[in-house]
Amino acid sequence: MPEYADEPSSPSVAAVVILAAGEGKRMRSSRSKLLHEIAGHSMLSYAVTAATTLRAEHVVVVVGHLRDQVEAHLAEIAPHVTTVVQAEQRGTGHAVQVALDQFADLTGEVVVTYGDVPMLTSDTLADLVSEHRRQEAAITVLTARVEDPTGYGRIVHTEDGAVAGIVEHKDADDAQRLITEINSGIYVFAAETLRRGLAEITPANSQGELYLTDVLGAAGRAGQRVSAYEVADLWQTEGVNDRVQLARMNAEMNRRILLRWMRAGVTVVDPGSTWVHASVDLGADVTLLPGTSLEGATSVGAGATIGPDTTLVDVEVGPGATVVRTHGSLSVIGADASVGPYAYLRPGTTLGERGKIGTFVETKNAQLGAGAKAPHLAYVGDAVIADGANIGAGVIFANYDGQHKYSTTVGAYSFVGSDSVLVAPVQIGDGAYVAAGSTITADVAAGELAVSRGRQRNIPGWVARKRPDTRSARAAAAALDDRSVGEATGQDQETVAAPLRQQVVTELDLSAAASPERETP
Ligand code: UD1
Ligand code: CA
Repeated sequence: MPEYADEPSSPSVAAVVILAAGEGKRMRSSRSKLLHEIAGHSMLSYAVTAATTLRAEHVVVVVGHLRDQVEAHLAEIAPHVTTVVQAEQRGTGHAVQVALDQFADLTGEVVVTYGDVPMLTSDTLADLVSEHRRQEAAITVLTARVEDPTGYGRIVHTEDGAVAGIVEHKDADDAQRLITEINSGIYVFAAETLRRGLAEITPANSQGELYLTDVLGAAGRAGQRVSAYEVADLWQTEGVNDRVQLARMNAEMNRRILLRWMRAGVTVVDPGSTWVHASVDLGADVTLLPGTSLEGATSVGAGATIGPDTTLVDVEVGPGATVVRTHGSLSVIGADASVGPYAYLRPGTTLGERGKIGTFVETKNAQLGAGAKAPHLAYVGDAVIADGANIGAGVIFANYDGQHKYSTTVGAYSFVGSDSVLVAPVQIGDGAYVAAGSTITADVAAGELAVSRGRQRNIPGWVARKRPDTRSARAAAAALDDRSVGEATGQDQETVAAPLRQQVVTELDLSAAASPERETP
């Protein structure tokens, strides 16, 4: 849900009616138009949030087309909201009538708004209600002055500046079409005026619909005060009818969100390629690098740097952390931790402070303690890794036997050598070592070294015999010649012998187990 400041001073009205029964044909979507998103939230959620902050006694959404989808969505995001079905869309007047039929004797103010005007703020709605009260009006309509009023209802004023009525574009004459003040479709009505007006209107117009707008003319003729409240920010009254408008409005909403964060002390290097959902929270001195998308309930702590090219969905990033070229969801990244480049954090990943999930590392349901590191090329799934443990390059947590998933624990300050496979379920104790290239299928107790791999055997002269006359054979022969020359000339024996010594590495020689990422004290 988008966030709005709590406004104790905002007015309390009897009901807010949100019209949302229309077809939204131009979206060309199997999904209800109202469920399409702006800055990560359904269009409808904005209307519901704005309505809720008016502290209305009732919030009613009039549903029709794809109503199952709309009702299911509302049940999820706003269970306090009720819906009423307008089975056949016979016009905006009819839609409000259907809603009003729910309340036999409603008194007070009724706000009518649309489900598809996501930029309308609760502040504007509150101002509209305040203006309505100040004017002691029976109806107040939210209007805007636009360059191209084509398609909109036009506001016709009386000589004293009150509203005489609204003429729909299709019913307007040439002179009326020149009017640039348009009806946003958002109003406050005195309940009684609304009820009386709705009883009066007829579908005698070019579209054969019951126009809610005709209620304004009827009230005017009956001598009631109908006023207009003009909003300067044209985006606030703009609806979304197709995906071109959807993209435009999404970009504008994002621009405004980024402006707000920049003013609050966030550096956005490239606002054009940075997307931040309305629900995201950012700390002071956060830096967002190009290509960053922060979504859902993501929060970023003070001084953290995100990006470039990073998408985080529902991720909590601690202060001072860096997250580079990463895709993450439902994860927690600790303070001063480092993630990426090219990391994939799947749900349930938590990385402790100063921890590291490095290059080409995938994690899932994995807890890494403070200072724990998986710096290179690893899959860490269903794992609990204690503080300071080091997961070498290419280590795989084999958590799935084809039928079930099992988990692995790795103790504090333990060291899992490169290219090892930990076959779950298995436990590595605190301060234990696993030699590089091991396949671990049994527990390793604290302080033990586990080695599980074939003993190395070197066969001298194999290449000369089995691959004669190859480049390899010639290279080997040249190297062996050099060695005998060295021996003959009494060259330093240590240097010459070094390659030989490597051939007799034993299983217990940890120089082979060591991962390149050595812990420096
Ligand atoms: C309406 C206004 C017009 C205003 C414009 C602003 C009327 C007669 N005209 O015109 O003055 O400038 O909005 O956008 O009110 N809806 C229902 N049930 C219905 C008909 C509509 O729920 O039977 C809902 C739609 O889903 C939509 C809203 O009401 O959210 C407006 O309907 P739409 O058909 O778009 O009205 P417009 O013709 O654009
Ligand atoms: Ca419309």
